Amino acid sequence: MKNYREIKRIIKDDLGFRDIAAYRKWAEDVWPSTRPTPETIARLSPEEVDNCAFWEVCDELFGSDPVCNMALAPEVGALPYPIETTMDANRMNLRLAKSFGITAFLEEHAQARLKVFEAGPGYGSLKHFVETQTNHLYYGVDAVPRISGVMRAAKEGLAPRDFVASMHGQFSYFVATNVFQHLSRRQRLGYVADATTMLRKGGLLLFNLTVDTSKLPPQSRDAEGNAWAVHYGQYTPIPKPAEAYDMVNADFDVLYVTQRFDSILNFACLRR
Ligand SMILES: C[S@@+](CC[C@H](N)C(=O)[O-])C[C@H]1O[C@@H](n2cnc3c(N)ncnc32)[C@H](O)[C@@H]1O
Repeated sequence: MKNYREIKRIIKDDLGFRDIAAYRKWAEDVWPSTRPTPETIARLSPEEVDNCAFWEVCDELFGSDPVCNMALAPEVGALPYPIETTMDANRMNLRLAKSFGITAFLEEHAQARLKVFEAGPGYGSLKHFVETQTNHLYYGVDAVPRISGVMRAAKEGLAPRDFVASMHGQFSYFVATNVFQHLSRRQRLGYVADATTMLRKGGLLLFNLTVDTSKLPPQSRDAEGNAWAVHYGQYTPIPKPAEAYDMVNADFDVLYVTQRFDSILNFACLRR
């Protein structure tokens, strides 16, 4: 497993992403003419690195971009002013969660005291929403706990095993918004398995991710035609829509799938 020093050397020295300006320049000028290869995919794969260290390095070099990802500015959903504070990042990210109805599900029983788990809270866009708009109890796990009350993920990029085991059937909501695009297949399946363990029957699993459609830019595809997302030199697989459904079919009924113009799908799934 590559450690903090090695990850930082690869991102800063090998790839030349010394700061957000250098990374943005690469994304605009160089990325379109590249293709993912087995070597570039393996270099910083979530399966090859200490996931906590990878995100720490990214925070250090790129500021708030790892949380609100403005290096590739969104075509829609941007704020009408620059992202200057962590709360601006939260405002922008909450737009995505709101547009997919995630906040509406969380508000449905706002007066009740239900348990909400979130994978990858970032600066807490959803945590603030849950704690100000509902009576629910919030729990979160992130590769970098940037706010109080959030646990650190294991280096392998999953929730701590003892926490999951101790919370069997306790949760009404398990949410991952704007996170699954950063994960390996094993990590995605791992979080869905944790949702199966932690949700009570009738609890909701809510998540979104980019899927492979013809709308992806050509530089997303490797020589076999498989699609990959890239963030700061880390490639992660973009599943076909059928693979995304297959992740949840065993233990969940899919209530809604919402598709955004840019191939982001949002799943709302009921624990059987
Ligand atoms: C794009 S940000 C989204 C933050 C938040 N969900 C929001 O919408 O405001 C992605 C977040 O996922 C976290 N993350 C990445 N890999 C993770 C993993 N394996 N387990 C938990 N969190 C992870 C990052 O540290 C970051 O906070």
